Amino acid sequence: MALKLSVVGTGYLGATHAACMSSLGFTVVGVDTDAQKVAQLSKGELPFYEPGLDTLLLQEIESGRLTFTTDFSAVADADVHFICVGTPQSKDGLAADLTYVKASVAAIAPFLKDNSLVVGKSTVPVGTAQMLREQLSKSAPHADLAWNPEFLREGFAVEDTLKPNRLVVGVVTDRAEQILKEVYASIIALDTPWIRADLPTAELVKVAANSFLATKISFINAMAEVCEAAGGDVTVLAKAIGYDPRIGHRFLQAGIGFGGGCLPKDIRAFMARAEELGAKQALDFLREIDEINLRARQRVIDVVRSDLSEDLTKYKIAVLGATFKPDSDDVRDSPALDIAAQLHAAGAKVVVHDPKGIEPARKRFPTLTFEENVENAVVDADAILHLTEWKEYRALDPQRIGSIVKSKLIIDGRNMLDRDLWRAAGWRFHALGRTD
Ligand code: UDX
Repeated sequence: MALKLSVVGTGYLGATHAACMSSLGFTVVGVDTDAQKVAQLSKGELPFYEPGLDTLLLQEIESGRLTFTTDFSAVADADVHFICVGTPQSKDGLAADLTYVKASVAAIAPFLKDNSLVVGKSTVPVGTAQMLREQLSKSAPHADLAWNPEFLREGFAVEDTLKPNRLVVGVVTDRAEQILKEVYASIIALDTPWIRADLPTAELVKVAANSFLATKISFINAMAEVCEAAGGDVTVLAKAIGYDPRIGHRFLQAGIGFGGGCLPKDIRAFMARAEELGAKQALDFLREIDEINLRARQRVIDVVRSDLSEDLTKYKIAVLGATFKPDSDDVRDSPALDIAAQLHAAGAKVVVHDPKGIEPARKRFPTLTFEENVENAVVDADAILHLTEWKEYRALDPQRIGSIVKSKLIIDGRNMLDRDLWRAAGWRFHALGRTD
């Protein structure tokens, strides 16, 4: 008989996983403590923006295979339980807050049938899976626990779940591996690499991958700083080094750096955990990665000040982009929004535009001004900052925009605009890591 699945936590990861597993033909129940989210998802409405997931969710709800509830007893029928709750940065330090992970395992424990498998997907500090196994051995001794980290990128969540570039499973027993092979059979059939690991290695794979990506971005942003000092051009440098297949071109886009719900918090939690384990020195470089990343935001503000004035109180600055990356409405730790807020705090009149992120951005920074229309945002501006590389910003006509601003100053925080085109239209064009 086909396995039945439960997904605990229906945020970004959980909602995606639940809809994708249902699309593979499984009966799936999603459980969350947030009644509003559950009500929305049950109607087939996605509480956030993710290309393709909206239609998939609706389709799966209509198929009858996928349901959502706030009632944890609904997991009683399921054989495999995926833990997909958040592990945010703690309020009082760098470490990850495990409250939700522990609470969700405790909440399902009384309903676990014999031989069921709990599968952690949340990003956790190494050692968490073992700790949860011990928690379960007391409350549900006939259940097993495995760890199966996810690597999904916002904007590609469905594709990354259904066609991942690898599946990593941390297991203690052969049976747990067999069950996971059954769940992922159709994905394995696509020749997806399958990696069996022990629990700590599976947990580490996720944070190691994110640390590597963060390092790659901060590396190129460090090169951008050197290019600025030496009169070079980081975009040419990145292109040139990327042709070496050992380096590669991806994640070498210099600019205002990384943000979002994963990379910043994951590298900080990883440092905190390494210190607890007595391996602090091994990850000290990540502190530098974090600092380079935050410095990129400051460098944009420095460019604005050096072009306009130290005192920004008389200036209107239009910020294009609020989300941490395009094709997402996520503003968590968004470099764009951070820069907007800092300029606002410095006294500038800041108007922010974003194609999808205005509402979440307004919730975070209610004192900023938001504009739904790009032209209304830039009208009479003394400077335009291009901070999230939405496609529509590359389609802006520098001639037309030049006729409605007060001063033709544009700063490309993502190195994605056509410098020659903007300069030909009379703009002062600055970009991070490019000097001429
Ligand atoms: C990331 C990981 O890629 C994913 O595997 C993991 O599961 C979750 O964290 P995501 O947060 O969706 O995914 O964003 P990602 O596409 O990795 O981008 C992260 C940040 O880096 C964005 O702010 C982006 O603008 C920035 N970035 C990315 C750069 O500044 N330069 C680059 O070259 C690439």
